[in-house]
Amino acid sequence: MDAVESPERRAAFEARIAAGEVIEPKDWMPEGYRRQLLRMMSQHAHSEVVGMLPEGNWITRAPTLRRKIGLLAKVQDEAGHGLYLYCAAESLGVSRDEMLDALHDGAARYASIFNYPTLSWADIGAIGWLVDGAAVVNQTLLAKCSFGPYARAMLRICREENFHRRQGYEIVATLARGTAAQRAMVQDAVNRWWWPTLMMFGPPDAESANSEALMRWRVKRQSNDAQRQWFINLTVPQANAIGIELPDPELEFDAESGNWKSGAVDWDEFRRVLRGDGPCNHERMAARRRAHEEGRWVRQAAQAFEARRRTRAPREISTTPRREPAHV
Ligand code: 3HC
Repeated sequence: MDAVESPERRAAFEARIAAGEVIEPKDWMPEGYRRQLLRMMSQHAHSEVVGMLPEGNWITRAPTLRRKIGLLAKVQDEAGHGLYLYCAAESLGVSRDEMLDALHDGAARYASIFNYPTLSWADIGAIGWLVDGAAVVNQTLLAKCSFGPYARAMLRICREENFHRRQGYEIVATLARGTAAQRAMVQDAVNRWWWPTLMMFGPPDAESANSEALMRWRVKRQSNDAQRQWFINLTVPQANAIGIELPDPELEFDAESGNWKSGAVDWDEFRRVLRGDGPCNHERMAARRRAHEEGRWVRQAAQAFEARRRTRAPREISTTPRREPAHV
């Protein structure tokens, strides 16, 4: 793509965005648009992959076979989401290796939420219900974003995230109907995950450095605060329905706006986690770097296999009609 920017080109691009057109990788785009998308999509891909770690911890400790199968499938789904997103981001001219190097060097971010520990089985329910629920709100909007590969990746991801959300809610609801110890365990998990989940939507609008450009380019379709409010409005009735208390004494329904008003988020905590001082930042990055190193031989073997496959002559195709195997 010819990258030269001119006022005419820029105006034509802005007109396409204003008309609701979808931008494809080979279309001309301003460098700022490309950089914003790369930042956001690679951060999103890293979040999916790092997000496998806190839940992966519980695969061997799931309480039943059914729960184990569900959690295994969910963690595999997250790996798939990372792959779709790295592929979509690669269409902007940066390789997956470069993106992963940026993650492992600490130059790229991943979602703050994955720097919190999973202390009990109920955390797996709380993550599914709250964290995946927040992801569904955010990503349903991204499915309508102006960049084609990102929007298309979101369609499938949203379906799967919605399933994860329902699976998490079912775990939480089951524990909420259980023994006193189970109820206490699930309430404790919700108490710990509620506020970090609200931080997933990013800083308040007034402090959101990227929102103005992203909203103008229709990558982001709603502001951080609007998405957070939407999520709170959806979640409060779900909590009430199963007798779970959200840990916010100031939560109150405002009939005039139709919103559940919440108390103040601890933005100092959010900034600490972003600086690398969250409860599990070091552990998560160490696990990610180790997994990357330990998986090197698999990547090399896959590349060697593919190189050999490409040089090999195509196999002769048999013309003998295939038969059903005889019954013995
Ligand atoms: N965690 C880590 N960093 C965050 C953050 C969060 N929750 N929210 C904001 N930030 C960072 C931004 O990256 C930005 O830093 P940078 O300029 O150095 O990159 C800074 O804080 C200021 O925030 P902005 O509001 O300006 O950032 P954005 O406009 O990009 O908005 C966002 C933040 C809402 C997270 C937006 O980037 C977004 O919608 N991203 C795509 C979705 C995504 O990445 N989701 C991550 C969760 S993945 C997931 O949910 C997996 C599932 O399995 C649960």
